[in-house]
Amino acid sequence: MSKELWTNVDDYLEQLFIEDDKALRSAQDRSREEGLPSISVSPVQGKFLMLLVGLVGAERVLEIGTLGGYSTIWMARALPPSGKMITLESSPHHARVAAANIDAAGLSERVEIKVGRAVETLAIMAGEGAGPFDLIFIDADKPGYADYLDWSLKLSRPGTLIVADNVVRNGAVAEVDSADENVRGVREFNKLLSETDGIDATVLQTVGAKGYDGMAFAVVR
Ligand code: SAH
Ligand code: DHB
Ligand code: MG
Repeated sequence: MSKELWTNVDDYLEQLFIEDDKALRSAQDRSREEGLPSISVSPVQGKFLMLLVGLVGAERVLEIGTLGGYSTIWMARALPPSGKMITLESSPHHARVAAANIDAAGLSERVEIKVGRAVETLAIMAGEGAGPFDLIFIDADKPGYADYLDWSLKLSRPGTLIVADNVVRNGAVAEVDSADENVRGVREFNKLLSETDGIDATVLQTVGAKGYDGMAFAVVR
C-alpha cells in the first residue's frame, strides 16, 4: 500500500466522478502560480463537502482556513440562492488569490472572506451575534483547532454539522507524546471533540493523492 497506489485510485475516481470544471481548474492554477502551498482538499473530498452542504440543506456555511478558495468554491456552489458563506483567512496574500478565484467562479455575491487570525475574527463575529451556521469546516492551523471547536460550538445550533480536515496526520495522531505541534494540536482537538457534551462525533481515516489523513464529523444535538 503506497501513496502511488492511492494517487492512481484518486485519478481513477476523479475521471469517474469529477467533471472537468473551468473555475475549479483555474482556481488551482492561479493558486499554484501565486505560490500558495498545494494543501487544498482533493477533488473527491471537495465534492464530498459539496454533498454535505446539500445534505444538511445549509444556508449559512462557515469555513476556517480559505487558502485559494478551492474548498470554498465547492461548498458555496451547493448553497441555495439565498445562501451565504463566510471564510476566514489570516494571510492577506492567500485571501487576495481566493477572492480572485471566487470571483472567477461567479460566487463573490455569496461568499465573504474575512482576513485576520481566526481566533480574533471568530471573537468579533460572536460579539456581533453572527450565526448560527448550519455547517462549519475547520481547516486552518492545526494548533488552533481546539479553539476553533470552542468558537464553532458558540456559532452553532442543534443540528449544525462541524467538519474538521487533517485529523489523522499520516497516522502520527496515534503517537501519545509527539513533539510535532500540528499533531499535538489535532490530538487536543480530537480529545475535546470526544469529551464535549451535546455533540455526536466520529473520525474517518482517508487516503488519496494527498496522502494518509482523516476528517472529523460532529453533529450538535
Ligand atoms: N480549506 C482550504 C485549505 C486551507 S489551508 C482548501 O481545502 O482549499 C489552511 C489555511 O489556513 C492557509 O491558507 C493558512 O494561511 C490559513 N491559516 C493559518 N493560520 C490561520 C489563522 N490563525 N487564522 C486564519 N487562517 C489561518
Ligand atoms: C496541511 C494543512 C492542510 O489543511 C492540509 O489539508 C494538508 C496539510 C499542512 O499545514 O501541512
Ligand atoms: Mg486541510
